[in-house]
Amino acid sequence: MEWKNREGYPDNFLWGAATSSFQIEGAATADGKGVSVIDVMEKKADITDFSVASDHYHHMEEDVALMAELGLKIYRFSIAWTRIFPDGNGEVNQKGVDFYNRLIDTLKKYEIEPLVTMYHFDYPQALVEQYGGWISRQSIDDYHSYAAFLFKTFGDRVKYWLTINEQDHVIRFSSRLGITEGSYIEKMWLGYQANHHMCVATARVIETFHRLGMKGKIGPAVSYSWIHPSSSNPADVLASKDAALIKNNYLLDLHCKGIYSKAFWKYLEERNYTPKINEGDMELIRQNPPTMIGVNYYYSETAEAFPANDKHPIGYHKETPLPTAEAGIFNIIKNPQLPATDWGWEIDPAGLRLTLRELYERYEIPLIITENGIGAYDKLEAGDVVQDDYRIDYLQKHIQQIQLAMNEGAEVFGYCAWSFMDLVSARNGVQKRYGFVYINREEFDLKDLRRIKKKSFNWYKEVIRSNGEKVWKN
Ligand code: BG6
Repeated sequence: MEWKNREGYPDNFLWGAATSSFQIEGAATADGKGVSVIDVMEKKADITDFSVASDHYHHMEEDVALMAELGLKIYRFSIAWTRIFPDGNGEVNQKGVDFYNRLIDTLKKYEIEPLVTMYHFDYPQALVEQYGGWISRQSIDDYHSYAAFLFKTFGDRVKYWLTINEQDHVIRFSSRLGITEGSYIEKMWLGYQANHHMCVATARVIETFHRLGMKGKIGPAVSYSWIHPSSSNPADVLASKDAALIKNNYLLDLHCKGIYSKAFWKYLEERNYTPKINEGDMELIRQNPPTMIGVNYYYSETAEAFPANDKHPIGYHKETPLPTAEAGIFNIIKNPQLPATDWGWEIDPAGLRLTLRELYERYEIPLIITENGIGAYDKLEAGDVVQDDYRIDYLQKHIQQIQLAMNEGAEVFGYCAWSFMDLVSARNGVQKRYGFVYINREEFDLKDLRRIKKKSFNWYKEVIRSNGEKVWKN
């Protein structure tokens, strides 16, 4: 719809930016930190590892001062589980606790609200070795104990908690589960079992959050790509709906409604992917829905029908980590209407508006955008200048669409751009930069790790200062 009147962002809207521990902290073995699945992941020859990253661990005060200069109202970061419990359970590492206490206190000093992700891909390797990690039911207890420890230790200052980041991606990128062997099918089956355990674990953590009388909000951060049909052919429309179910909605149906929808369960059954569900699991999940949903949105996708045939029978799929084609269901194709980033991610601000409306209409749970941004090959020019106009353009158009979605009824209370500073991309190294702050390092040459404000830094500062009005002006 087009509107004659546009309401502004509410005064208490939480303008923010996000990062995750392993992508910025570095200090991978410092001060008693234990090993995570990220530390032992197979390395690609042309991409750096995460051992130094942006060295935030040693630049924390300077980085938070920059956040304050930017005017952030909220900062999303994750706690590295293995800094707190090096073995995933058991002994606490006080130095890890001290680091996050200092970070939270520094944020508070500048009146920046901390938004804590309890677990963002960096699962303790020791738990994988002890019992297989998330694929074992034992994982539920350890995650719950870790989360309860965080509530008790930091809960006096932290109001907003994200339980698990992009659970759907964790189960599909098997290295993030610590699984290194097995066929694609076996890995997917284990992935859905792990997924079930993560849902039960999340529900237990939410139950404890309420039992401890914690103030604030809690929920998962989910990845969500809006899925368009490739044409008005009803078969393509059905393909887009089914792709949305398998890629996006199944998970929030679980978290928010406590159900495996009938179509999704049949999908799992036909592929022998059904997880083992214990008595009481579904009841526990149903009784403990999240009180907020974190939305990670970067791009939309476009699906066409993919009829099964002799060559591609039902069950055939492309063996890509994220589902891109399954015979009898859908095939993801390029959308000729949309520009794309250097990594082929299709830029679609309206897709974010559609996503927010859809999520709020389906679940009626307050939303916060926990990631949104563009990865690019930024260039550092003479005089410490980074002219990232493409980032300004991307963010501006997305922030406009959020406001429109809110005008249309979606309850959104905050926005965290990805990312506050340059970091090591989850899959593409340092060369794919996302930040408002440039980190002076290359893939393998650490240079001086100097912090440099990009053009987008000053632009976003104005967006925050004007409470969003800046995005409607050039
Ligand atoms: C999300 C993750 O999947 O997307 C982040 O939560 C990640 O950790 C971001 O960095 C962008 O993906 P990538 O692969 O470009 O780093």
